[in-house]
Amino acid sequence: IKILLLQGPNLNLLGQREPHIYGYETLEELHAGLLQEAFALNFQLECYQSNAEHQLVERIHQALIEQVDYILINPAAFTHTSVALRDALAGVAIPFIEIHLSNIYARETFRQHSYLSELAQGVICGLGTQGYYLALQAVDKRLSKNL
Ligand code: DQA
Repeated sequence: IKILLLQGPNLNLLGQREPHIYGYETLEELHAGLLQEAFALNFQLECYQSNAEHQLVERIHQALIEQVDYILINPAAFTHTSVALRDALAGVAIPFIEIHLSNIYARETFRQHSYLSELAQGVICGLGTQGYYLALQAVDKRLSKNL
């Protein structure tokens, strides 16, 4: 099973970026932990972060060629702005789970709309880095049940 994790803009600063909101764990630490979890679940996981919308779009297109089974995505600020990411995900029709570290519904009103959520299989937000682990477990359950 191939899973692609996409991390949007500014998530490279995880650990030092507004830690009261996003926590102290770095992106590297998070990815290391997720790779371990993926290994335990027998998943082939690739983690990719970009600050550039077009790179994320290209990576989504590439996922189709690579026959990726599932996409996990924290679109970060592009959540609230990007019709292009939404169209890319709709275009490749690979099932995806949207993840946010913070509870976007408890913050500024501009964060309360996501261009992606409507197309997502599920959305996890507000649980910090645990949300990514929960997403991997959800993929495992859903694939074993053919959902
Ligand atoms: C975020 C929430 C977004 O509103 C914000 O722009 C981010 C991170 C989160 O993980 O909580 O960069 O996606």
